[in-house]
Amino acid sequence: MAILKIARMGHPVLKQVAATISDPKTAEIGLLIQNMIDTLADAAGAGLAAPQVHVPLRLVMFHVPAARAQEEDGEAAEGCPFTVLINPEIDVLSEEISTGIEACLSLPDLAGMVPRFNHIRYSGLDHRGEAVEREASGFHARVVQHECDHLDGILYPMRMDDLSTLTFTSEISRTRAEEMEDGEEPQDIGEVAHAEDG
Ligand code: NI
Repeated sequence: MAILKIARMGHPVLKQVAATISDPKTAEIGLLIQNMIDTLADAAGAGLAAPQVHVPLRLVMFHVPAARAQEEDGEAAEGCPFTVLINPEIDVLSEEISTGIEACLSLPDLAGMVPRFNHIRYSGLDHRGEAVEREASGFHARVVQHECDHLDGILYPMRMDDLSTLTFTSEISRTRAEEMEDGEEPQDIGEVAHAEDG
């Protein structure tokens, strides 16, 4: 088990286009996957991309608990089991856009509102080198788009259309706490509690 150091915004590895993995079944890739799983668990994030651990290869991992997906998208949402995706591809299935809160392990303590395509199909290879193809919508689709953007040197602020929503999470929490003390209905408090890093 090894917990890897996570690159933060500004590091060159987060700005480059990551390379395709020619053979997903090498021992080297297997070790990278295991170490990334350990790193993601330690950071308690929703997802992680290899460039975030200073490895410029096209590999991401993510999970979406059903309870979290249901909070965002209603009772019918299913979430997504823990998934490793090598050389992922995304097809946009609808031009419909949703704006929701995102955070990232490479931008610690920050969160912002990011527009994403609401309905996508994604494909790639899993940790055994077997094909994965799924449709995703809502929060599940958001997480996948966020992680795959890391492979093309894109961090979520580069997708934001209103930078005034870029906020330190501690400030959001304080504002919400003051609203609650004032007896006001807190706005979107669930979002703050669950702005998982990716
Ligand atoms: Ni991220």
